[in-house]
Amino acid sequence: MKPRILLTGKNGQVGFELHRLLPALGQVVAPDRHALDLLAANSIRRTVRDVRPHLIVNAAAYTAVDAAETDQVNAHAINAEAPAILAEEAKKIGAALVHYSTDYVFDGSKKTPYEETDPTNPINVYGKTKFAGEEAVRNSGACHLIFRTAWVYATRGRNFLLTILRLATEREELKIVCDQIGAPTCAADIAAATAKILTNIYGRNDDAYAFSKVSGTYHMTAAGETTWYDFTKAILEEAAHASKDLSWFAAATHGRPLLARRIVPITASEYGSRTLRPAYSVLSNSRLTQTFGITLPDWRTQLQQCFAERSFERVL
Ligand SMILES: NC(=O)c1ccc[n+]([C@@H]2O[C@H](COP(=O)([O-])OP(=O)(O)OC[C@H]3O[C@@H](n4cnc5c(N)ncnc54)[C@H](OP(=O)(O)O)[C@@H]3O)[C@@H](O)[C@H]2O)c1
Repeated sequence: MKPRILLTGKNGQVGFELHRLLPALGQVVAPDRHALDLLAANSIRRTVRDVRPHLIVNAAAYTAVDAAETDQVNAHAINAEAPAILAEEAKKIGAALVHYSTDYVFDGSKKTPYEETDPTNPINVYGKTKFAGEEAVRNSGACHLIFRTAWVYATRGRNFLLTILRLATEREELKIVCDQIGAPTCAADIAAATAKILTNIYGRNDDAYAFSKVSGTYHMTAAGETTWYDFTKAILEEAAHASKDLSWFAAATHGRPLLARRIVPITASEYGSRTLRPAYSVLSNSRLTQTFGITLPDWRTQLQQCFAERSFERVL
């Protein structure tokens, strides 16, 4: 069966990549924020009832982690209440829901990769609202796939990769946090993994049954782990060899030369953000691999692929 798909967040990092890939799976209806405002419960309900999707893919979220600390009402509405309504409406019409969550549902006190069964304990507002969204989806009774991902970046949008490239054209010295460990994950790889999983499910005649068999929460991040500091060094290594013809790279640097020569490691407390972030938030992907036979490339390979501009050809 070719499912009718309602996709939210099509202009976001992950949503943009999904919007390119999901039409191969089925008919995609992808309203932007103006057509479907997740702050308006009625708008969400009306859209789901009008579109009558077989599948909802919610790639929209309030992702500004620092801003969420002082904008709790909006962060909660978009990250917790909107997924709850999407899941409730999905349940009513027998649709399935794909939803994304975050490594920030954990407090970072572990020293080995977090499993899906590990206790959650978010330490910032963003993490708390995302966890509330997860719980609403899990408790809705709708068939769902919740993919927890981490440290997402892309060659467009607002993210660490593009920020570092911009800063590297402005400063000779960059001070970067070296005591937070995670797995930088490229949006194109998240979308490719999602599309592959959905293709497997909807490639069967009994797709509703197939979905119910795998319904649950999964970690979906790049393999391996690193710090923001080492990620920065890797970005600048790639950037040093980047082709001038790489359009996103030219846009990120405005065609200016890279000035950054000294990358100085600092602690999170020296950086001085008032938002708490987990010191360690590596996620074990073994459940994803065991269930779907998918392993995302390691973070360094994903970064290289961005600089090779092969995001259309992600192969898992
Ligand atoms: N970014 C990360 O580092 C990170 C880390 C872990 C997990 N995640 C999760 O991964 C998923 C995808 O994140 P992402 O980085 O792709 O997000 P993103 O680039 O910040 O995009 C978020 C999308 O949500 C849309 N949106 C925000 N408020 C909305 C509203 N009121 N109504 C309708 N749409 C709204 C935005 O619309 P506009 O384009 O109009 O602004 C945008 O398209 C999210 O669930 C996120 O929590 C992200």
